[in-house]
Formats: sequence, C-alpha cells, structure tokens
Amino acid sequence: MTDTLDDPIYKTDALIAEDIDRYLEVHQHKTMLRFITCGSVDDGKSTLIGRLLYDSKMIFEDQLAALEADSKRVGTQGQQIDFALLVDGLAAEREQGITIDVAYRFFATEKRKFIVADTPGHEQYTRNMVTGASTADLAVILIDARKGVLTQTRRHSYLAHLIGIRNIVLAVNKMDLIGYDQAVYDGIVKDYAEFANGIGIRAFTPIPISGFMGDNITTVSANTPWYKGPALMEHLETVEVDQVSDQQKPFRMAVQWVNRPNLDFRGFSGQIATGTVKVGDAIRVLPSGKTSTISRIVTLDADLDEAVAGQSVTLCFADEVDCSRGDVIAASDNPPQSADQFEATIVWMADEEMLPGRPYWLKIGTQTVTATIQQPKYQVNVNTMEHLAAKTLELNAIGVANLSTDKQVVFEPYEANRTLGGFILIDKITNATVAAGMLHFSLRRAQNVHWQATDIGRDFHASLKNQKPAVLWFTGLSGAGKSTIANLVEKKLARMNRHTFLLDGDNVRHGLNKDLGFTDADRVENIRRVGEVAKLMTDAGLIVITAFISPFRAEREMVRQMMQPGEFIEVHIDTPLADAEARDVKGLYKKARSGELKNFTGIDSPYEAPEDPEIRIDTTGMTAEEAADAIVARIIP
Ligand code: ADX
Repeated sequence: MTDTLDDPIYKTDALIAEDIDRYLEVHQHKTMLRFITCGSVDDGKSTLIGRLLYDSKMIFEDQLAALEADSKRVGTQGQQIDFALLVDGLAAEREQGITIDVAYRFFATEKRKFIVADTPGHEQYTRNMVTGASTADLAVILIDARKGVLTQTRRHSYLAHLIGIRNIVLAVNKMDLIGYDQAVYDGIVKDYAEFANGIGIRAFTPIPISGFMGDNITTVSANTPWYKGPALMEHLETVEVDQVSDQQKPFRMAVQWVNRPNLDFRGFSGQIATGTVKVGDAIRVLPSGKTSTISRIVTLDADLDEAVAGQSVTLCFADEVDCSRGDVIAASDNPPQSADQFEATIVWMADEEMLPGRPYWLKIGTQTVTATIQQPKYQVNVNTMEHLAAKTLELNAIGVANLSTDKQVVFEPYEANRTLGGFILIDKITNATVAAGMLHFSLRRAQNVHWQATDIGRDFHASLKNQKPAVLWFTGLSGAGKSTIANLVEKKLARMNRHTFLLDGDNVRHGLNKDLGFTDADRVENIRRVGEVAKLMTDAGLIVITAFISPFRAEREMVRQMMQPGEFIEVHIDTPLADAEARDVKGLYKKARSGELKNFTGIDSPYEAPEDPEIRIDTTGMTAEEAADAIVARIIP
C-alpha cells in the first residue's frame, strides 16, 4: 500500500486541455475549496496528499508546467477562471523573477472540487508558503502525534493566520503509532489551543488521523471510537469556502481593463472581489467618487442579472463616467476608503534586504503605485512570535512597518478584503517581486496633515534671485574628485551672481546625517534626506550642488522625480576606480583593502554608474578647473 501512495498515480506526464475541459464541465457546478497542507515529509504530508487524491478516485491533476502549456485553450469565464488565474498569477510571478516552489494539485469528489497547494516545510521557505497560502480557504496543519506541537507547527499556523486563512484543521497524524491513545491526542489539542488563542486564531478543527492506515481520512475510523467529529474529507467537503462568505460583504471589483471594442460599447472588466452586483445597482467609482448605475452585466456566455464574488464579468454603466484600469467599482452607499499612508505587515521575499526609503512599485488589486517603506517598527520571530527590533527585513523575515504611496490607494484592511488589502512590492530596476504584504489601516496623519499653501511661492523666490533653480547632482566613487570640482563650480557660479548652496557628503554626515553609516539601508536614507533638503532649497530658489557618492540608481532616480522637470542635472564624475585608489587622499582605500574598513564603495559595496547622465566628466587627462568650466558652460549658456 505504501508503494502506491509514495509513488502516487497523480504523477501523470501531461494534463491535456481536453482533460481540463472535461473536468470543468463535469464539476462546474460544484464549489471549489483551495487549501494548503503544512508540515514536513516526516509528518507524513505526501502520504496524506497521496491518500486524499487516491481515495477521491477522480484525479485530474498535474504539475504546473503541463497546465500552463494548455492554459491558453481554457476559457476565461465562470469557474474556468480559477485555473486561468492560478496559472497566470504564477506565471507573472515567475516573470518577475521570484523562485517559488509550490506544487498545485487538483482533485474532486462527488460534492466539491479542490486545489491543494503543497509547499516545502523548511524554515527558509516562508515565501513559498505565503505564495501557496495566498489564495487558500483552509490550511491543514499536520502534526506527528509522537512529537506534538513543534516550532514548525507554530510557524505554519502563524503564517496561515497572517495570510488570512480562517479555517484551520489540526490533523494529528500517525495515530496508529501511538496506539490511538486519546489522552495523547487530547494533550496535543490542548497545547495547540493555548498557542492558537495567543496568536488570535479563534477556532480550529482537530482531527486524529493516520494517513498511512487511512483512519479518519475518508471515513470515520473504528480505531478512534472516542472521536465524535467528521473524517477529514467530509470536513473538507462541507466547510464554508471564502467565496461564500465573500458574497456577504459589500460589493467591490477592481477594474482589470476597459473593454471598448467599438463606439457603441464600453464596459469595465474584472473579477468581483467581494459582494454581489445587480443590474440597476447604484455604484461608485474610486478614487474619483463618481457615481452611476449598472446597466448591464456581460459575460462571454450571456448577460446576467446578478453576479457574485469570484465571478469575472464586464460591467456597463448607465452614464458616461470616467473609469480606468486600477480603479475600483464599489457599492455606492458603502465604498472602501482611500489613503496614501498605511501600517502594514511585510513578508520579505528577496535575497537583497529591504531598503527603507527606497521607492518600490506597490501592486494592490489592479492598482500600481510607488511606495516607500519606513524602518520596521518590529520584526516577528516566526518561531516564537516574539517582536524584535529591526532596521531592515531580510529574506523570509516578517515585520510591521509604515509605508507611504505617491498616489491615493483604494483599499480595505486585509482582514476584511484580501484583494484590496493584500499587495506585492516590486523592485523598480530588476522588476523582481521582493515582498508580499497586508495593509492593516491607514494612518490618521495621512488625513490630518495637509499641504499648507504659502503666499510666497517657489517662483517668487526664484524671481527675486533672478535665476532658475536647479540641482547639480554629482555622483561618483569616493576620491573621484566630486567635492573638489563641486567647490570650484560653486565659486564660478558665485562670481556670476548666482545664488547657490553646496551640500557635501562628508559635511552633511557631521550634522543632519550623523546617525547614518555605510550600509545599503543607511546610504538610501542618506540620499533620501539630502534629496528632501535639495528640494526645499530649490523651492527657496537656489541652485543646489550636491556631492555624494550616491551609489544607487534607484535613489538618484527618486530624487530626480522629486524635482520639477529639467531641474535635476546628474553629473557623473567618472574616475576609474584604479585612479581614485591610486590617489587615496584620505587613505580609506588602503583601509578598505586591508579589511579594516567594511562596505567601502567600489571595494565591497557596489557603485551603479549612471546610464544616461546629463553631464559626464571623464577626469582622466583633465584638471579639476577644466572640469568645473565644462560643467558651468553646460548649465549657464
Ligand atoms: S553615500 O554612499 O551615502 O552617498 P557619502 O557621499 O555620503 O556616501 O559619503 C562618502 C564619504 O564618506 C566618502 O567620501 C568617504 O570620505 C567617507 N566614507 C567612510 N566610510 C566609507 C565607506 N565605507 N564607503 C564610502 N565612503 C566612506
């Protein structure tokens, strides 16, 4: 018997499109339960999954690859969307360079169809579990009855709860190996209840099982007469799925695209996140707040009078109301809020650590905005649930931090709505997904701090000085000559009656930024603050000259975006590393080479040269004086 289960028949080579079509046809009226199994091989996870699949006797599943290849042939309506979305979602993540290791398997019984996400149990795979769990309705937490509640049990439960899974099954496995001893089982359930209560899990369903022997899997076992609950399969078949509870919530749909095949038709397509929508319903488009009523609900097959959470539809309005991709259509009398500052839980999924202050793309529902994250308030030890102080988040770390976005985001707390409260962060340069997150709430200060209009504006300041403000942003290696040349440029401009101010790295690090060192995170914060100061100085009408290594493209780009168009002039002082090192005015390269000084730019900390600077100064064969003349000639025609 073990052979069958350990070498499961679900390893078919290809799942052809006809199979999917047939599967969908046969099962299209059944509800779908997505669940995740948490545990390690030792806990008997593969045996359990194998048995569920085997006993369900209806096996239409395969590894992702086969399904992906055929997904094109699957339609996009009704229940079929589940497959398409699943596959598309993962494909998108792959394109974005995230390595995930989650296997999805499909099976069905008389009553229901299932997708089970199977993720590796090791600690370093937090991101896999989060990915696998992100759409799950239920988590099966496997425990080896001989071992009881372990660190990994706590970790898996915490993650499942964090991701918003409200149905938790505690499957106490290998009951056969402890002689179906009720006292041991009760002890484990009691331990778990204590822990679960502590992290806010309100309820869970304990079931004593043996995957190996088949006890309480599909039928209630005679070996556990003291157990009065359902077999695992019965529970999976009858537990309420999120799709049903989502239908009770207020109506929300994020617009995926505007469907406008010709001038006579204009509809807004997307998947209904929560609630129900009927023809004639009053709706509100967010963030604009414009209202209208639903005139048609269109699907590929036919128009509907009513559609519910989980369905993909195209909505038409009775009025010409502006609505585009990223907007949210909601019940008019009960719309979600929008804000630009939030507290959130962040699960970091990239090898490179999180950099507070760096701008990342934030995708939430169908909205994409720029977000910066502040230093975490704390990090959670996922094994002990302790809160730890943290300056950043590393791979697989989970923390709570405030973040701000450049535009208003239509959202709901993740607890209430996974679609409008769950987000991913994407690196702007590599396009890799670096984190997943859940919004808790918007910060009140976002509502209470308003921009104060002043009467003497930036134009007035500039006109008094009779000049156009600008930022001459010098970047280059330590010892490249930035400070020397910047100093000469400032003198030349002063002689021409220009009002200037020079911000120099070493000097600013004595005052405003004396709390910062040279880690990547500190350098990001260094440049963020200097950018903000430079911005204020341009508002004051000044020509600002900055001389900082500013090694990262992302932050130089961020400062560029903060300024008015044309105001930011990037000046790359391009000195070969060998030359800067040979000069070594401050003796720092020598220290860095000997290992006495860590994180030194060009040695063991990166420098990302500008790809397309406004001005590039090749200092080989040029004096500082000549370089300064060349720069001034470029900016003062
Ligand atoms: S930045 O990377 O954050 O832009 P910044 O320009 O402010 O750096 O400071 C660089 C100056 O700090 C260098 O010119 C050098 O004198 C000094 N310094 C000290 N330690 C380091 C280090 N590890 N890497 C680079 N510069 C360092």
